[in-house]
Amino acid sequence: MTTLWPDSDVSPDEMLQVAIDAAREGGAILKDWAGRFTITEKSRANLVTEADFASQHAIHARIHRRFPTQNFVGEEGLAETNSDSPWRWVIDPLDGTSNYVHGFPYYAVNIAAEYGKELMIAVTYDPNRDELFTAVKGRGAFVNGQPIRPTLVTDLQDAMVVASLPVACRPEHYAVKQLLNVMPHVQTVQRTGSAALNLAYVAAGRMDAFWSGSLKPWDMAAGILLVQEAGGRVTRMKGEPIDIEIPDLLSSNGSPIHDALQQLL
Ligand code: IPD
Ligand code: CA
Ligand code: CA
Repeated sequence: MTTLWPDSDVSPDEMLQVAIDAAREGGAILKDWAGRFTITEKSRANLVTEADFASQHAIHARIHRRFPTQNFVGEEGLAETNSDSPWRWVIDPLDGTSNYVHGFPYYAVNIAAEYGKELMIAVTYDPNRDELFTAVKGRGAFVNGQPIRPTLVTDLQDAMVVASLPVACRPEHYAVKQLLNVMPHVQTVQRTGSAALNLAYVAAGRMDAFWSGSLKPWDMAAGILLVQEAGGRVTRMKGEPIDIEIPDLLSSNGSPIHDALQQLL
């Protein structure tokens, strides 16, 4: 066991395994609901389906059964609990609901556990490709058990970068301005619809950088640890330390492109 693991009566292997089992169960539920769900708008263009709720219910039930005193927060009304435990699970049962609804196969189940404010466990599961991204603090990051590393790109002109803009974002929104600022300086700018997978892809060397000013804790908790453990870098857009409670994230392969993007955002 690494010294980075807190003095706690739960083992990293056990926590990771429960998170993996929960993520796979959530992923199977998403696949099962595909094509037969109904769509509800929480707000303009902010969608939710029965699959989101069913996945969250299963994930919470499984983890809670094993760790009944730990705290939880989840996107679909899984309210913040306040036990004495320093552990908190942060759950997005379906990251990329718009993609899911349109049959665009880029979405994931996202589960993280933090001890105090420290991210300790990360699982991002893509049920379409059966790719399981995992990390434990201090132990590296993996996809399906194989170690992952970010890209080696050092020049923004060679970079594929990705942005997450708010849903129903208006042209005058600052996020649009940021996107336009970056565009002339990079090789490609993408927008994909799943922040969780974007972070996993930065960790795995499939994207060079990703930023957003509109994420919630459950969108980014797991992916931050994946990028950090893979050897990449995550900060706020102006370089301050990342905080999952603040919607301000810049992640990258850790090369000088990070600072270059900071200047442009
Ligand atoms: C959304 C996705 C998207 C991001 C949005 C999130 P959801 O999560 O991560 O990439 O741009 O801000 O809300 O709603 O599909 O779980
Ligand atoms: Ca999400
Ligand atoms: Ca979601």
